[in-house]
Amino acid sequence: MALDPQRQTAYLEAMGIQPWLARDANPEAGVALPPVQPGLPGADAEAIAALDWQALQAAVANCTRCELHRSRTQTVFGVGDPQARWLVIGEAPGAEEDRQGEPFVGRAGQLLDAMLKAVGLARGQVYITNILKCRPPNNRDPHADEVACCTAYLQRQIELIDPALILAVGRIAAQCLLYSDQPIGKLRGQVHRYGEAGIPLVATYHPAYLLRSPAEKRKAWQDLQLAQRTAQGRG
Ligand code: URA
Repeated sequence: MALDPQRQTAYLEAMGIQPWLARDANPEAGVALPPVQPGLPGADAEAIAALDWQALQAAVANCTRCELHRSRTQTVFGVGDPQARWLVIGEAPGAEEDRQGEPFVGRAGQLLDAMLKAVGLARGQVYITNILKCRPPNNRDPHADEVACCTAYLQRQIELIDPALILAVGRIAAQCLLYSDQPIGKLRGQVHRYGEAGIPLVATYHPAYLLRSPAEKRKAWQDLQLAQRTAQGRG
């Protein structure tokens, strides 16, 4: 859905950036990278890969695979339209998300909503989830074993949603999904391919980072426009 220019300008201003004109598509678009490595032992990963949406939600809600289940208030499975064309993947629930059971509900979530609105998407029109379904204590970075334990859940979510586009927000999400140790500044600005299905994936800065570094919002806007073109088949 394209927004009329006046409304788009309003949303860009809500994101705190001056509206500007898009450049041509990034010449590096179409880079193919390896899929996420399955993190769970075969039997578990296979069982999770066969679950339907409801069973998957129940499996996540009852998960005790890693230590994070001890400190969580609740799991945070995801929110939005399970048949959405856009799948937004962040890092992990924070304190507010852990309390409410919904991803991106704090200040970073408000900015994410504004970013999505800037490309004509309401929160309910996309699906939003995280690499981790449980909050790491004190909002520390996820540990590798925690990511490994959660990977099969996310892979099954991706399979069931079958999105036209994955938007990876932040370094952790981008690195995990692309199986890369490159910095986010290198991973953003191009179209990657996720998994065997080759789902187009665009990485961008995390809204929490953008709140601290508003000068980077212009690049995030470029990424969103690239994502929009890609989801529309014009990447
Ligand atoms: N940051 C994330 O990456 N995910 C959330 O759900 C909230 C903040």
